[in-house]
Amino acid sequence: MHAKILIIGACGQIGTELTKQLRKQYGTDAVVASDVRKGSPEFVNSGPFEVVNALDFNQIETIVEQYNIEEVYLMAALLSATAEKNPAFAWDLNMNSLFHVLNLAKAGKIKKIFWPSSIAVFGPTTPKEDTPQYTVMEPSTVYGISKQSGERWCEYYHNIFGVDIRSIRYPGLISWSTLPGGGTTDYAVDIYHKALSDGKYECFLSEETKLPMMYMDDAIRATISIMEAPAENIKIRSAYNLAGISFTPTEIATEIKKHIPEFSISYEPDFRQKIADSWPSSIDDSEARKDWGWKHDFDLESMTKDMLDHLKELEKISQFR
Ligand code: SER
Repeated sequence: MHAKILIIGACGQIGTELTKQLRKQYGTDAVVASDVRKGSPEFVNSGPFEVVNALDFNQIETIVEQYNIEEVYLMAALLSATAEKNPAFAWDLNMNSLFHVLNLAKAGKIKKIFWPSSIAVFGPTTPKEDTPQYTVMEPSTVYGISKQSGERWCEYYHNIFGVDIRSIRYPGLISWSTLPGGGTTDYAVDIYHKALSDGKYECFLSEETKLPMMYMDDAIRATISIMEAPAENIKIRSAYNLAGISFTPTEIATEIKKHIPEFSISYEPDFRQKIADSWPSSIDDSEARKDWGWKHDFDLESMTKDMLDHLKELEKISQFR
């Protein structure tokens, strides 16, 4: 029997996929999904589900005790674009939810934590290409500041209190089953939906904005494999750089055109351009490869095919509902 797992923020873009995969691997009852509100009935009824506010320590503690939880995946967060619009709440949510879970581990109530960091920890003074694990980090966004501070606290709790915390700096994540919410890299998901529904897309980033991205299948695999790795292999207790693919809006549009020849893209950069400009274009993830055997599978071509196939399938299913 695998340790009991709690996912906080299970209805989000990553949480939904993580819940599915963890249940597949460890059994439905081993994974308790939770979110601040109920998701779709289909999701809520697919296994144990609890309404949990990530800002409420007592609620988290109660669920941990009730289900004998040993591992927590804390996926609740405000992403980069939304955080700029609501800095105080973003700081509160992104930091205090982390402290709640770190403190539960410090008190010995849980054994292991996964907490996501992001490429947003880097800033305009960071080297842009092949950004190393250890480099200048001066994030200029609220989201990036919260992730950078979170990383420091993770390492601190590990060094001082022995907390087994594991983290990854996710690039922009692309998935077909759940929409992202409020990120700067979200265009790379929207573009597929609009390509199929409208045959055109107006991009909020400029054509040559190259950002590190990853297909969700790879991201979920990375997440579970860092959590399954022996503790002694996890040498970095702030967060690991993780790389998949890097591309520009023009490049993804060109790939989509191979499947939908009439597809067209136009560019209308908004406030998110400045956020994107402050982030790296590509990431050096050699530490993750060395320490816990990370390797990505999907490139732009295979991801585009898989995205479009799944979205077309969803469209067919919805016609029969
Ligand atoms: N995808 C996130 C965002 O755009 C970055 O971690 O905010």
